[in-house]
Amino acid sequence: MRKPAENIAILGLQWGDEGKGKLVDLLSANFQHVVRFQGGNNAGHTVVVNGESIALHQIPSGALNPGCFLVVGSGVVLNIEVLHQELERLRERGIDVGKRLLLSSNAHVVLPYHIALDNWRESGSDRIGTTGRGIGPAYEMKAARLGVRLGDFDSPNAIIRITSVHREVSRIIDGSTPLPPPEKVHQNLNSLIQPIKDCLGDAQRHLLDAWRKGESILFEGAQATMLDIDHGTYPFVTSSNCSIGGLFTGTGLPPKVLTKVFGVAKAYTTRVGVGPFPSELKDSTGEHIRQVGHEFGTTTGRPRRCGWFDAVVLRHSCSVNGVDGLGIMKLDVLDGLDSIGIVKGYKDKSGKHIAHLPSATYGWEDIEPITEYVDGWKVPTRGIKNWKDLPTQARKYLHTLEEAIETKIVYVSTGPDRDSGLATPRSWAKNWLG
Ligand code: IMP
Repeated sequence: MRKPAENIAILGLQWGDEGKGKLVDLLSANFQHVVRFQGGNNAGHTVVVNGESIALHQIPSGALNPGCFLVVGSGVVLNIEVLHQELERLRERGIDVGKRLLLSSNAHVVLPYHIALDNWRESGSDRIGTTGRGIGPAYEMKAARLGVRLGDFDSPNAIIRITSVHREVSRIIDGSTPLPPPEKVHQNLNSLIQPIKDCLGDAQRHLLDAWRKGESILFEGAQATMLDIDHGTYPFVTSSNCSIGGLFTGTGLPPKVLTKVFGVAKAYTTRVGVGPFPSELKDSTGEHIRQVGHEFGTTTGRPRRCGWFDAVVLRHSCSVNGVDGLGIMKLDVLDGLDSIGIVKGYKDKSGKHIAHLPSATYGWEDIEPITEYVDGWKVPTRGIKNWKDLPTQARKYLHTLEEAIETKIVYVSTGPDRDSGLATPRSWAKNWLG
């Protein structure tokens, strides 16, 4: 009997930008299909090959591996114009993914109206610091059953639905931003969809067939659990389910397809946009991490807020996703620090210890982190490829993290290049990551 394939999900456990793209890029060489299932071009995955970075927003990071078939599931909201730019950027580097890309006809299309509405909302006092890519409104209209799907461009449905969205957005923003007429939007999108028509199809059926044939599938999460609309720091979240549930709704596959959940976190924490961040460092150490870690958004270029590793956040994310093993990224950014903090709990206003995340955002303002410090290391970890070559203090730090979150670390990244990193001793990820 054929051994069932391992099908792995790579999920961010903090507030995004954990380095999922690097892991997907590394692992994808061993998988036949790589799948995006939620989010849109609010995501920015940077993969570095031979010192050259490529930023991908909607195309799965497996694009760089010629043996990988790339699937964009129905849970994604697609900006077609940006998709063309990504395809072009890849072509310029000699990578043509046209014959190995499948876009679900059920995926919703981001319209200029969604972008206008997103930016209109962000100009008000309730702003949450979105990426301004129209993602929230695109999901909002999907839930309101006003959305436009890729497959709609086959029929008069597209112009009818674009007109409905135009009407809805005009009503909300009440003339404060000029909107292009529906006919023009339709014409433009139609002309962009024609050249990629062959890539549209039934992604659910494709993946189900692949699974039944025993082909291996890698699922690439975008954003992260703390930005999940249900399990994150609502309302300072994105509008999709970035944690495990989104994988099933965004592909139409049953849970038993999945064999492992690979959670990804940085060795510290970052977040962009507004919202709670208990372990944030607003001092020179935070600035040091931002500069050394190049913590500026891939999508918007915004400086990321930086702070210590937060074990409370990680315990929450590991439990929501049922994480089987952790990838700890950017350990090298902490090189040279005298001491390194780990947030192990919180205190409320009255000094009471809190071991879990407050469920409502209003509870966050008054919580204070309980930070424990470990010694830093002087020997740089940058580029290290073997566990035994890590400085003793760095290994101690990683063990402290494991104990605090009760989850095994299976991979450690020590630099942006593909080969800067290591699978930990006895890690199941060794099969894929060497
Ligand atoms: P939206 O997804 O553009 O609506 O933005 C909502 C929140 O999610 C904002 O705080 C964004 O900064 C954040 N966000 C969205 N996508 C990403 C990402 O890929 N990495 C990090 N933060 C993100």
